[in-house]
Amino acid sequence: MALSCPVDLDVAKLREEIESIYARVAADPSGDFHFHRGADYAANLLGYDRAELAKLPTETTSSFAGVGNPFVAGKPATGATVVDIGSGAGTDALLAAGYVGSTGRVIGVDPTDAMLEKARAAADQVGAKHAEFRKGSAEALPVDSGTIDLVISNGVINLAPDKLPVFAEILRVLKPGGRLQLTDIIMASELSEKSRRDIDLWTG
Ligand SMILES: C[S@@+](CC[C@H](N)C(=O)[O-])C[C@H]1O[C@@H](n2cnc3c(N)ncnc32)[C@H](O)[C@@H]1O
Repeated sequence: MALSCPVDLDVAKLREEIESIYARVAADPSGDFHFHRGADYAANLLGYDRAELAKLPTETTSSFAGVGNPFVAGKPATGATVVDIGSGAGTDALLAAGYVGSTGRVIGVDPTDAMLEKARAAADQVGAKHAEFRKGSAEALPVDSGTIDLVISNGVINLAPDKLPVFAEILRVLKPGGRLQLTDIIMASELSEKSRRDIDLWTG
């Protein structure tokens, strides 16, 4: 599997495009996108608990854009410290905040300001003082080494042009014996060079 994009792909432009798409998902989730969004999608297709989603602000769940359900592999334990890489508008991070309770801690990391604003507003609204949202990226997590019990991420690592630094960062922040619960897009076969150079396919 290719772990990095073609060397001559303009990575700065790719990151700009990705942030601009997700800024639009934050501002107007009902807009025209080629991926699913929202609470009904999460409950009907990904097995999220509808009642748990209903406890979160609609502004947050409407901008949910994950590709799977990282909690299928188990819910974070009470008191655990969790990082959500690419926390978007905060759906997964705030669900995690509910599971870990006030003795735990959740750190959402996202590069898109509009998503961070939505996630922080939602944390305030639900009174999740133990959830915080930091600006940053999967390739350089703004998180101390060896402090995390569980890393979750949902539909984000496919957006990283180079995957190796992402997994190096996950290993760095996890405590010994910590867990990674990851949902993402996988390819059954190697993509053609032409597809790997197509920015529109990267940003989806
Ligand atoms: C598919 S959504 C994530 C869904 C999110 N878990 C939720 O609960 O809605 C993708 C998010 O990843 C963020 N993102 C894009 N590139 C990233 C990167 N290199 N590192 C971390 N986050 C990134 C985007 O800004 C966007 O908010």
